[in-house]
Amino acid sequence: MIALAGRTVILTGASGGIGAALCDALIAAQARVVAIGRDEARLAALARKYPEGQLLPLAADLGSDRDRDRVIAEAAALRPTPSVLILAHAQSAFGLFEEQSDAQLRALIETNLTAPLGLIHGMLPMLKRHEQAAVVAIGSTFGSLAFPGFAAYSATKFGLRGLIEGLAREYADTGLRFQFLSPRATRTGFNTSAVDALNRELKVAQDDPADVAAQLVEAIAQGRRRLQIGWPEKLFARVNGAWPGLVDRSLRPQLSLVRKHARS
Ligand SMILES: NC(=O)c1ccc[n+]([C@@H]2O[C@H](COP(=O)([O-])OP(=O)(O)OC[C@H]3O[C@@H](n4cnc5c(N)ncnc54)[C@H](OP(=O)(O)O)[C@@H]3O)[C@@H](O)[C@H]2O)c1
Repeated sequence: MIALAGRTVILTGASGGIGAALCDALIAAQARVVAIGRDEARLAALARKYPEGQLLPLAADLGSDRDRDRVIAEAAALRPTPSVLILAHAQSAFGLFEEQSDAQLRALIETNLTAPLGLIHGMLPMLKRHEQAAVVAIGSTFGSLAFPGFAAYSATKFGLRGLIEGLAREYADTGLRFQFLSPRATRTGFNTSAVDALNRELKVAQDDPADVAAQLVEAIAQGRRRLQIGWPEKLFARVNGAWPGLVDRSLRPQLSLVRKHARS
């Protein structure tokens, strides 16, 4: 267990659907949240929801090396120093791979994978100073089961899962935990109308961000290494690990639907 009360938590993606719900849940657990996103006005509006000092807005584009370095420097200057880093930002990228541009793919890798690598690397010294600390990556079902129409996005989430798994094993004999916690489809602005339409046709369930945030914060407090929210996603992710051919065959009939919605 890791008590969140009194801790300084760095939260990326704080202005997003799941991120804003995480702010509510973390502040309810008496943590102080450093809220990161690109949009200063959205972060300022978020800060006004809470008693002064509970949410510190920090505007930064995590796809930029300079902004990432600034976030790390500002985090190191905070007292108490941060002991929990939650990576809840990401870019979505639904579409046919061959129709995605080089620039789009580079930005996706930079935001979803290079930024987490850089932030974790830069914040390790301050996290390690605490007897108990945590790095939490918000993953996705697509970090365990790659889906057509989401190939590049899945690659970033698989990469993130590999990073967290490797680090969890590298720091297994310390008080620093690495957690990979995966929501399934959730009702936020992350999903375009094309993704919503595909989900409806495939009868994919969509969760409420507040419910997702409550499960994530509980898993953080419990120090759970891994979490996949939802059935049948939990089952599919495991089946994909053990028998990927079965999942290949079950997704094959859905390809025409994916192509219909993914075509730009
Ligand atoms: N929604 C889903 O269906 C779903 C399902 C599974 C997993 N997830 C994962 O859950 C996490 C949160 O998703 P969400 O649904 O809350 O998404 P969202 O509502 O679209 O929010 C995305 C957040 O990421 C931030 N962000 C994006 N690019 C950034 C950049 N370059 N620099 C700094 N911040 C950036 C956005 O802030 P600004 O735009 O203000 O910069 C926003 O706060 C993501 O990791 C996502 O992969 C979502």
